[in-house]
Amino acid sequence: MADGATAAAAYDSAVRPSGQGVTPLTQASPDGRADAPVPDGAVTDIDAARFRSVLGRFATGVVAITGIDPGSARPTGLAANSFTSVSLDPPLVAFCVAHTSSTWPLLQKAGRLCINILSEPQIEVCKQLAIKGGDKFADISWSGSPGGSPVIEGALAWIEVSVEQEHVAGDHVIVVARVHDLDKHHEGEPLLFYKGGYGRFDG
Ligand SMILES: Cc1cc2nc3c(=O)[nH]c(=O)nc-3n(C[C@H](O)[C@H](O)[C@H](O)COP(=O)(O)O)c2cc1C
Repeated sequence: MADGATAAAAYDSAVRPSGQGVTPLTQASPDGRADAPVPDGAVTDIDAARFRSVLGRFATGVVAITGIDPGSARPTGLAANSFTSVSLDPPLVAFCVAHTSSTWPLLQKAGRLCINILSEPQIEVCKQLAIKGGDKFADISWSGSPGGSPVIEGALAWIEVSVEQEHVAGDHVIVVARVHDLDKHHEGEPLLFYKGGYGRFDG
């Protein structure tokens, strides 16, 4: 699971710089004061390392969120493990993007986006899309979805979406996206992310 920890750590440190804790929780009292005593057992302060190590025990898949940058007419994207399905009727999915992302502003302008569910052999694709700057799609083969967004060769499935809502939530924005089309792509096993590293499904 240690392989790939560098790209994952880069994401962690970009989003939550070392030493930066999460704002301590306070409880509002009935009269609205924010400094009321916190009940015994409540969490009052959470440091970044503890937050990451506990949340890292939640195993996820990894997606590549891709689109065509209208400025350059070139494909771009980022790797994300915060993806989830939300609603069937209407068909909605969601993912979270850090305010520090330099690729998200380009994807926002793309109109249609593609969520690519990455397969286990695509670990290098994941790492490449997680690097800030440069040509995100260098040596990555892709074809166009019906709406023209990049479907990456080797992905298990693709979901074509457009942004429906964005909700600012702390250091991220929660993006709710409407599904316009989707399909299975290649057969294979998923790329998993767990405890800050990559793994595979041995089911
Ligand atoms: C396994 C993995 C999961 C990631 N998940 C997210 C995520 O859910 N949200 C996010 O904003 N960035 C996530 N990142 C970081 C982005 O892929 C990317 O590194 C970051 O957006 C910086 O690149 P950019 O400036 O080109 O956007 C993840 C990175 C890795 C390696």
